[in-house]
Amino acid sequence: MKPGSKLRIVVLISGSGSNLQAIMDACTYGALHAEVSAVISNAGNAYGLQRARAAGIPTEVVAHADYPDRGAFDAALVKKIDRYQPGLVVLAGFMRILTPDFVQHYAGRLLNIHPSLLPRLQGLHTHRRALEEQHRIHGASVHFVTEELDGGPVVLQAEVAVLPGDDESTLAARVLQQEHQIYPAVIQWFAQGRLRLDPEQGVMMDDAPLQQPLRWATDSPAA
Ligand code: GAR
Repeated sequence: MKPGSKLRIVVLISGSGSNLQAIMDACTYGALHAEVSAVISNAGNAYGLQRARAAGIPTEVVAHADYPDRGAFDAALVKKIDRYQPGLVVLAGFMRILTPDFVQHYAGRLLNIHPSLLPRLQGLHTHRRALEEQHRIHGASVHFVTEELDGGPVVLQAEVAVLPGDDESTLAARVLQQEHQIYPAVIQWFAQGRLRLDPEQGVMMDDAPLQQPLRWATDSPAA
C-alpha cells in the first residue's frame, strides 16, 4: 500500500449489516483510515445492501443458489471481489462456509467476526447455546480466517456478562454493541500496519507475536 493511501476493504454480508454500518461509520468519522470499496452479499434481500447503497458504496450480489457447488460459488465470489483490488476482505455476518481455495487466496487479509468468545461456541446459534449451557460470560471475537471453521487466530475479544433474565435477543443485542466497537478497531490496526498474520509466527501486533487474544473493556454488570 502506498504511504498515505487508504486501505481498500471489501465487506461480505448475508443479513442486516449492522457491523458493516459500524465500519462505514468509522470510515466516515475518521476512526478508521480505510474505505469500503464494495459490499457483496450472497442474498439479494440482505438489508446491509440498502445500508451500503445509502452510503453510496457499490454493491454486488453473488447468489449461492446460482452455482452448482461451493467451489463454483467461491470462484465467482473471488472474481467479483478482486475487481475491487482490496487490501482486506471483511466477513461481517457472511453466513457461508468458504472453501480452502478461497481462504488461501486471501491468506492474511481475511477477517471474520464471530458472536462468542472463541474457541468456545464455534458454529451457529451461539447466544442460545451460551444461555443453555449457563455461561456467565459470553462475547464476541475478531479473528483471521483460516481453513478451520471459526478456528483462525483470534486478535481481539469483548466480554459480555450474561444477566439474569436474558433471552437470546437481549443477549445478542448486547453482544452486537460490542461487535460494533471491536471490528472497526481491529480493521484500523490492520490499516495502520500494526496488525498482520505471519505464516510462521501467527498474529503479529506491533511486530511482536500475540501470545493470547487482546481483550476489549469488559462489559460487567458492575461497569
Ligand atoms: C453478527 O452477530 C456476527 O457476529 C454474526 O452474524 C451477525 C451479523 O450481524 N456472524 C456469525 O455468526 C458468523 N458465523 P450484522 O449483519 O448485523 O452485522
